Amino acid sequence: MSLRGKKIVLGITGSIAAYKAADLTRRLVKAGAEVQPVMTAAAGRFIPPLTIATLAGREVLSELFPEAGEAQTAWTKHVDLGLWADGVVIAPATAQTLAKLAGGFCDSMLTAVVLSARCPVLVAPAMDHDMWGHPATRRNVATLQADGVTVVPPAHGELASGLIGDGRLPEPEDLVAQIGRWLDESGERGIGHDAARLGAEADAPASLAGRHVLVTAGPTREALDPVRFLSNGSTGQMGFALAAAAARRGARVTLLAGPVALDTPPGVERVDIVTADDLLQAALAHAEADVVIAAAAVSDYAPAEPADRKLKKGDDDLTLRLRRTPDVLGTLGAQKRDGQTLVGFALETHDGEAHARGKLARKHLDWIALNVQGEPGAGMGAATNRVTLLGADGARVEIPTAPKAEVAEAILDVLASSPSGGDAR
Ligand code: CTP
Repeated sequence: MSLRGKKIVLGITGSIAAYKAADLTRRLVKAGAEVQPVMTAAAGRFIPPLTIATLAGREVLSELFPEAGEAQTAWTKHVDLGLWADGVVIAPATAQTLAKLAGGFCDSMLTAVVLSARCPVLVAPAMDHDMWGHPATRRNVATLQADGVTVVPPAHGELASGLIGDGRLPEPEDLVAQIGRWLDESGERGIGHDAARLGAEADAPASLAGRHVLVTAGPTREALDPVRFLSNGSTGQMGFALAAAAARRGARVTLLAGPVALDTPPGVERVDIVTADDLLQAALAHAEADVVIAAAAVSDYAPAEPADRKLKKGDDDLTLRLRRTPDVLGTLGAQKRDGQTLVGFALETHDGEAHARGKLARKHLDWIALNVQGEPGAGMGAATNRVTLLGADGARVEIPTAPKAEVAEAILDVLASSPSGGDAR
């Protein structure tokens, strides 16, 4: 990836995260890019244009129409800039700017440059969690993606409002890396000029913007006593890969995660759970999701009478009484609503397809992803997976052995091509 010599219009809009635009400008310039900053009037309330101009080594542009003393002919500057740039990056992008861009508004230098640009456009939204989740914002993001705009989902964390959620502008260091990759990929795919719009339709993965995706991942732990538990070897990789892939496609993603040692993917809302009962409560709280993907390896049984003090050694034999835990996916299946897509996983050691088809029907699923434990490069703990997707309508799709991130993309592609084949309850 090289930003050297790349011409970037950097749009900065009125979010508290605008202060990060100073560091972003500095890093882009340091990486060798030519940065032309364009700020909206609101951005100037959060960060002085003088700071940005000094770091960029270029005047900040804001006004569409020539200002006092400027040549009258200067008003076509937005067209010149749109043609000059190799890429337009808007970071941070407010809900207001997303709405204007989705509507094709042209009331500032920045919106005019975007309309004039023949190069690819990337936006990095930053706002409060609820503003990001609002149906209007989801709609605008979906429109922009359909127009070929790349959307870097906001990160999860503490927001300026004091709330915790999705809405943070990713760190400038990460943004610079993403911008570099994006420009490289756009170049490879010939995206530039009008191809930005046409190419996006042909190459971009199906968008999930405006959809709420609920993913369960990892194992559960069922306490025997305060220091011991029943669990399994799930590492959560497949579920986390699915959550990351859905977020990259613009979905609002809620990830219910058992105890695993994995970082939260960017733009994903994570809820940590420990037991199957916790998982059920958390899943019911998000049961309205448009798509549910249950990749968690839930304990089917829990000790019936967990001890509140550590169990001490006694006889040579110890008999444990176990109780059934709730079937989380089965519960969601029993209350499935029209238009909802439910996807389960079946990890089998024998008679895989028959068992998987049984689960598909019993839990009222649209799809079930069958993987075989014991097969090299597949199943729990492996970095790769091989999956057979079975659909309620009889479909059967083989996804060959690949890293779990690629398998996740392939699964989402299949869901996009046939979102709901199962019965709605
Ligand atoms: N699942 C769940 N809650 C449970 C058990 C399973 O949500 N208590 C989900 C898993 O996340 C997976 C699917 O159901 O998507 C299949 O899980 P599995 O344990 O293989 O199926 P069971 O129906 O429990 O069948 P068995 O254990 O007998 O193979």
